[in-house]
Amino acid sequence: MTLVDTPAAVAGGPALAQERRLVTAIPGPRSQELMARRAEAVAAGVGTTIPIAVVAAGGGVIVDADGNSIIDLGSGIAVTGVGNANPRVVEAVTAQLNAFTHTCFTIAPYDSYVAVAEKLNALTPGDHVKRSALFNSGAEAVENAVKIARNFTKKQAVVAFDHAYHGRTNLTMGLTAKNIPYKSGFGPFAPEVYRAPLSYPFRDGGLSGAEAAAGAISQIEKQAGAENLAAIIIEPIQGEGGFIVPAQGFLPALVEWCRANDVVFIADEVQTGFGRTGAWFASEHEGIVPDLVVTAKGIAGGLPLSAVTGRADIMDSAMAGGLGGTYGGNPLACAAALASIESYDADGLIERAGRIGALLLERLNALRTADARIGDVRGRGAMAAIELVDPETGAPDAALTSKVAAHAHANGVLVLTCGTYGNVIRFLPPLTISDELLIEGLGVVAEGLRAA
Ligand SMILES: Cc1ncc(COP(=O)(O)O)c(C=O)c1O
Repeated sequence: MTLVDTPAAVAGGPALAQERRLVTAIPGPRSQELMARRAEAVAAGVGTTIPIAVVAAGGGVIVDADGNSIIDLGSGIAVTGVGNANPRVVEAVTAQLNAFTHTCFTIAPYDSYVAVAEKLNALTPGDHVKRSALFNSGAEAVENAVKIARNFTKKQAVVAFDHAYHGRTNLTMGLTAKNIPYKSGFGPFAPEVYRAPLSYPFRDGGLSGAEAAAGAISQIEKQAGAENLAAIIIEPIQGEGGFIVPAQGFLPALVEWCRANDVVFIADEVQTGFGRTGAWFASEHEGIVPDLVVTAKGIAGGLPLSAVTGRADIMDSAMAGGLGGTYGGNPLACAAALASIESYDADGLIERAGRIGALLLERLNALRTADARIGDVRGRGAMAAIELVDPETGAPDAALTSKVAAHAHANGVLVLTCGTYGNVIRFLPPLTISDELLIEGLGVVAEGLRAA
């Protein structure tokens, strides 16, 4: 594999040495101090993946208060695709800060909100007439997509899938599949949410996309009924649920069924969107055109912004004043989104995601060949994962997964775990990471596997 350098225009954000550098154990003394204060001040339910005190980040590294430089293979959960403190984003947000910080778009509108909507309408799949509405978080946008679909169809039921993750608000907890830590004790959940089986090639006996879709549709028809169903919502590649790529044909069959039954098809592209998978949106890999697309995370270089984009007839069905909120489409976040979209485009970051994906899959598959505990390697673009199992039985091995992640963290590589069974290590590097750092980070994960 040839080494491809980080695009010059986005290399490093703040001038940080692009290296893994450990000057103390992790956490070092300053990070420990913050962790102690955190334990006293912050609610215990707000978790920590790596116990450090961040002072800077950019390119492919995060620097902590003790001077450690950590390879970032998580992008703040798929957010900083354009890199932390991306120069285009910093410049645009600084200019906006100096102009005005907030008027509330629904009170006094401004250009950048409309410009973001225009970009989203142009970039999301399909050449039909579209509208967008902007919000703050992924969960808030998911809630709005469901609300809009219900209003449009005058139906109430919603189908989500096994292993789904859609957020932590009340409706999105109900849509999310995994009980601990996302749901347990937090009910009751919103009514009229039904669950259908997902295509999970590694664990469903290798059903084809068409077979898996037929099973899901049969269950939907029996348990919800098309006449009651407003929408189905699905991540084109499941994120928190384990980076599950459905078998080819699964998503198109669901879209086709939705079209035939007046059911709104909502693609939750919160994690998969904005170049992450080597296309603007993961729906493109299967050629599907969702009725509504939910976006967030990678849209605005780290500033909080989310959106629902979709068919104008559906989006326009909500009455004036029915959609919105105080901060949705805040001008700083919109400035950041416009600069981020420019960076994905002008700095070749979507192509870069494809090359990162090729490198990840090549290296991870090589690891798998030598280590039967890696049951599956999967993903698209800069969204790849390994599923760790007991080689004898194929049972998920969450303990091994935790050990490998802990080894990576102790050795200056930030990786995230995921999966219904807690046995998946996921790789979500910023698209501004260099090949050298990525390869070094993967080397540390491989070392962790050998050591465990
Ligand atoms: C697919 C998907 N949908 C929704 C959400 C919720 O987004 P947020 O955390 O911004 O509310 C997430 C977050 O991880 C996600 O991955």
